[in-house]
Amino acid sequence: MKKILLAVSTVALLSLSAQASASSDIKVGKKIYDRAFGRGCGACHDISSNPQLIALIKSGDLTKGSFATTLKEGKNGMPKAMDAIMAVGPVKKAGYSEDEAIDAVWNFLAQ
Ligand code: HEC
Repeated sequence: MKKILLAVSTVALLSLSAQASASSDIKVGKKIYDRAFGRGCGACHDISSNPQLIALIKSGDLTKGSFATTLKEGKNGMPKAMDAIMAVGPVKKAGYSEDEAIDAVWNFLAQ
């Protein structure tokens, strides 16, 4: 019985901490969107002639794989972004890897 209780409470704790990290992830993702390259992703992406990231993610036209590749390698007028993303204060503070930082900005845009 004790073992079962322990297992149940461990699962509850794990799901609580997963929720907490998802919400802090989104906050860091917003900081990336607002601050990367000094002026943020929105400096370009809030202009209607450039790709509208939230709409593209919602419609399924932008996959996470191609999102990550674009950030790592750039694409035409889109500069490589990983150095700029990793330099954002809250990303450094959270100690994120490149993949975790990509997850954070994706989770912010896809929420
Ligand atoms: C200097 C302006 C500029 C900045 C800053 C910028 N982007 Fe872009 N981005 C572009 C342009 C222009 C394109 C379109 C490239 C193309 O397909 O020709 C693009 C394309 C993209 C794409 C690919 C969209 C698709 O449909 O394939 C992604 C993903 C993206 N940007 C994410 C970001 C993120 C996240 C940031 C901030 C970290 C950012 N961009 C900052 C200009 C910018």
